[in-house]
Amino acid sequence: MAMHSEIALPRKVRLVEVGPRDGLQNEKAIVPTDVKVALIDKLADAGFAAVEATSFVSPKWVPQLADAADVMARITRTPGVAYPVLVPNMKGFEGALAARVDEIAMFVAATESFSQRNTNCSIAESLERAAPVFAAARANGMRVRGYVSCVLGCPYEGDVAPATVRDIAARLVELGAYEVSLGDTIGTGTAGKTRLLIDTVAQAVPVAMLAGHFHDTYGQALTNLYASLEAGVATFDCSVSGLGGCPYARGATGNVASEDVVYLLDGLGIDCGIDMTTLRIAGQYISSALSREPASRVARALNAKSAAAQ
Ligand code: HMG
Ligand code: MG
Repeated sequence: MAMHSEIALPRKVRLVEVGPRDGLQNEKAIVPTDVKVALIDKLADAGFAAVEATSFVSPKWVPQLADAADVMARITRTPGVAYPVLVPNMKGFEGALAARVDEIAMFVAATESFSQRNTNCSIAESLERAAPVFAAARANGMRVRGYVSCVLGCPYEGDVAPATVRDIAARLVELGAYEVSLGDTIGTGTAGKTRLLIDTVAQAVPVAMLAGHFHDTYGQALTNLYASLEAGVATFDCSVSGLGGCPYARGATGNVASEDVVYLLDGLGIDCGIDMTTLRIAGQYISSALSREPASRVARALNAKSAAAQ
C-alpha cells in the first residue's frame, strides 16, 4: 500500500479505457469505422490493460455502434490487452462470438425505470437474459465483466439504495462475473455516498472484484474515484478526453477523463501503466476527429504546454 497522509491507497491500479464504447455511443454523427479502429489501437499503445471496444447491441437502439463486427475485425489485438464488448442478450453474444471477442460485459440497471429505458425489460428479466449468456461465455472460454448502472442515482427515480446495488452485484458474481463495475451513469454521486456504496457492496462482493465507473456530469468523478481508492477499489473505468455519456440518460456527460485519472494516480505515486504522452496524442486524435476540444482539463493544460514549447 502506498501511503498518502495517513490513508493507505492501492499501490497499483488497473484502468479500463471505455472511450471507444461509452464515449462514442453518445455521439450523434456516425464516426467512421477507421477512426474507431485507429483510436482503439492508439489506446492499446498507451498501455491500457483493457480497451472496451464496442457493443453488440441493437443497431436500432445505438446506431453509432452498428459497425461492431467490422471494428473487431480491423483492430490490432495487442497481446496482453483485453478488448471487452457490451452484450445485452444471446443475439449480442452470438455476434461477439463470431467476431472472436475475448471478453464481454453484461449490464444491469439498479432501477426498474432505467432498465426499461435502456434495455426494454425489468431488472429480473435482464438477469434472466444474462444467465444463458454467462453460461455460453463460460463454455467458450470468455471472461464476463458485470456492470450495474445508476448506482448513485437514476434519471427517472432519483436516489438508489446501496443495498439494491449490492444485491444485483452479488447476483452478477453468482452468475460468473469476474468483476463488477459500479456505474454512476448520470454522475450525481458525491464522495460520502460513494464510500457508503462501496462499503455496502463490499459486504457481498470482495472489494478486489469491484471497479468504479464515474461519469463527470456534476464534476465529481475524480473525487468519487479518490473516495473509492480510499475504500480499497483498484480498478477504474475512464474515457479518453472525457468522451461520452449514455443515450438513455439525457444530459449525462462523459466518464471521468483518462488523462485526469492518470495525472491523479501519477501524483499519488500509484502505478497504472499508462504513458501520458501516447494517451494525450490519442485524445488529440479523437478530439480533432470530432472537431472539439478535449473535455479533460489535464489534456487541455498539457496540450497548451506542448504547443507553447514548439
Ligand atoms: P428490444 O427491442 O426489446 O429487442 O431491445 P428484441 O429482442 O425485441 O429485438 C428487436 C430487434 O432488435 C430485432 O430485430 C432483433 O433481432 C434486434 P428486428 O427483427 O426488429 O429486425 N436485436 C439485436 N440486434 C443486434 N444485436 C443485439 C440485438 N438484440 C436484439 N444484441 C435490447 C432489447 C436489449 C436489444 C435493446 O434495448 C438494446 O440494444 N439496448 C442497448 C442499449 C445500450 O447499449 N445502452 C447503452 C449501454 S449501457 C451504459 O452506457 C451504461 C454503462 O456505461 C455503465 C454506466 O454508465 O452506468 C455500461
Ligand atoms: Mg457509462
